[in-house]
Amino acid sequence: MSEIVIQKSPALCGNIICQGSKNAALPILAATILTEGKNTIKNLPRLTDTENMFEILAALGGVLNINVNTAEIDFTNCNSHFASYELMSKFRGSFFLASPLLSRMKRARISMPGGCPIGNRPIDLHLKGFAAMGAEIEKGHGYVDLYCEKLKGAKIYLDFPSVGATENLIMAAVLAEGETIIENAAAEPEITDLANFLIKQGAKIHGAGSDTIKIYGVKQLEPVTYSIISDRIEAGTFMSAFAITGGKGKIENVNPVHLKPVTAKLTEMGADIDVHRNYISIDASRHLFSANIKTLPFPGFPTDMQAQFSALLCETDGTGIIVETVFENRFLHIGELNRMGANIRIDGRSSFIEGNKRLSGAKVSAMDLRGGASLVLAGLCAEGETRISGVHHIKRGYENLCGKLRSVGANIFLE
Ligand code: UD1
Repeated sequence: MSEIVIQKSPALCGNIICQGSKNAALPILAATILTEGKNTIKNLPRLTDTENMFEILAALGGVLNINVNTAEIDFTNCNSHFASYELMSKFRGSFFLASPLLSRMKRARISMPGGCPIGNRPIDLHLKGFAAMGAEIEKGHGYVDLYCEKLKGAKIYLDFPSVGATENLIMAAVLAEGETIIENAAAEPEITDLANFLIKQGAKIHGAGSDTIKIYGVKQLEPVTYSIISDRIEAGTFMSAFAITGGKGKIENVNPVHLKPVTAKLTEMGADIDVHRNYISIDASRHLFSANIKTLPFPGFPTDMQAQFSALLCETDGTGIIVETVFENRFLHIGELNRMGANIRIDGRSSFIEGNKRLSGAKVSAMDLRGGASLVLAGLCAEGETRISGVHHIKRGYENLCGKLRSVGANIFLE
């Protein structure tokens, strides 16, 4: 089992190029099932999650040709309505296959999705939406069967602006009969990216990126070449790495609009941030202050950056409070940070983080993807050596994390 080994690092300095977005890549890859023909997807991050998705698509009949960060995916034939439990259970994004398979094959058998253990993660909103569009649903042991001869447009109000449910319902609606309206939809940039991909293919989607999305079903979609957006969470993680080491640098290949909640918070904490068209520079050489954070759906502060800021707040002046409103169990990293000398108390959905702690290296374990990233950040500024196990969680979302951090001066290796 590999480990990430980190020695206390100097102030990081230099440029990092951001990968393509994991959370945009997964639904867009799944959506290629909707087209007969060959789509070309560019700027794909090479992560275990995307590799797993490639494997599932191939098992369903897709012909894939993958070259570095570009994938040609030909779904002229889709020959199965289900993928094995072993493949599907590896990551949450596998549930994105539900709507493309249902639309294309008129049925889908979907294993209950896996992914980070950060909460209960029900799929009721996805299923309620499918049912409103005419699908019959049967729940088995560990899987769900969906049937529908022809999906029909419907008016769907989401109880919570779920990212995954919004994406699944957009994919269900693009080839459905008539008009679908999704209200209280999620507005994350990855949703807009999925919509832009489908619009380029000929779908009629209005309002993606707002809380009301209207979709008019079309007869068919045409294959296209599409480049996915950059990964705002990877970018935010690198900004946090510069911040926690008191460094300065530039993150390239980003859309600063997607990073507004993160750059606003870092600015409030005292970092100097310059925003340009497709890069952001950060200078955190002045000592930063603590801040209070509440995670919210976009454009609020992303829950996917909460763990990284938990590490950062251990180093800043004062006490910071983080309220996690999106997932009910997203503090798995706190115990590990405390093992490194942090003083963080959890009370319900809030964590109280005492700043100015001199963290010290320890053996710690990544329990989920972003929690793992927070331990890497803590390791960069902790005295001595930090050894992080559970590296497979981190590899789900970061392409060459150690190499990229090393390129700006970090003492970090994968062993
Ligand atoms: C996606 C992202 C994940 C991010 C999250 C919130 C992907 C692959 N993952 O996850 O990185 O942290 O958005 O920004 O894109 N919920 C229900 N019922 C449902 C669906 C969701 O109650 O049917 C609840 C969840 O339990 C959670 C909240 O809604 O409390 C948000 O979940 P959701 O937005 O669906 O997250 P994911 O799409 O799973």
